Amino acid sequence: RKRLTISGLQKMKQERNAISMVTAYDYPSAKLAEEAGIDTILVGDSLGNVVLGYETTIPVTIEDIVYHTRAVARAATHTFIIADMPFMTYGASREATLTHAARIMQQGGAQAVKLEGGSEITGDVEALVKAGIPVMGHIGLTPQSVHQLSGYKVQGKLDKDAERLMKDALALEKAGAFAIVLELLTEPLAAAITKALSIPTIGIGAGRACDGQVLVYHDLLQYASPYFEKKFVKTYADLGTTVRQAIEAFSQDVKSGAFPAEEHTFQPQAEAKTSETL
Ligand code: KIV
Ligand code: NA
Repeated sequence: RKRLTISGLQKMKQERNAISMVTAYDYPSAKLAEEAGIDTILVGDSLGNVVLGYETTIPVTIEDIVYHTRAVARAATHTFIIADMPFMTYGASREATLTHAARIMQQGGAQAVKLEGGSEITGDVEALVKAGIPVMGHIGLTPQSVHQLSGYKVQGKLDKDAERLMKDALALEKAGAFAIVLELLTEPLAAAITKALSIPTIGIGAGRACDGQVLVYHDLLQYASPYFEKKFVKTYADLGTTVRQAIEAFSQDVKSGAFPAEEHTFQPQAEAKTSETL
């Protein structure tokens, strides 16, 4: 199959074909996501939470994102890959923003970058787009601003906040973003933004009207994620239990002597063989 493009994503919105996106952070997660036929993969800075064990996404570095994106890109050779720009790798200076995005594209192998923020980052978005780098926006609950936002909460409940978020979405579209993630917005606000924009919206905890939906890999698979029980997540498998039980069984087999069994062992042979297949 062919890798989706930003014009392909645009077309999906126009034709009302919902866009699916899942996060992936390494070779196996990206391989399985691509084999599953997902439309787009996000190398999210949520890797800070679900892969590296941090409390927030703030400690995630450009090196972390480049390293994980490279592993994803080796596996997902036919899927459109977007990678997050980490906290403070954009917005400080135009030059730093461009340099960091270039590393994510060149060294990581992503096809696009994602930045959190609204009107305050449109200068950066314009510069990236001008440089040939596709940009996905991200508004609503923006985890890199968790301290500024005083916690992880639904955004846009008050009229004045909803108006600001609508303005932010329109400003990002005008600046050249090819799509926008809407995180933890009320359903009517996400619907209004989706309707007002000509570029696709990808929702997470933002209701049914978005042009696409994204979930975090470890959440939807219940894979040692602290977040899978959140209201906006649907869990599709319980990998945590599967993996824990498998490792428990292995450990018990080692202690009981049930593993390795004879079929797992190598024995000397009377006749010399030049090679042995493992
Ligand atoms: O980092 C991430 O996983 C994200 C998605 C939740 C949109 O930004
Ligand atoms: Na993110």
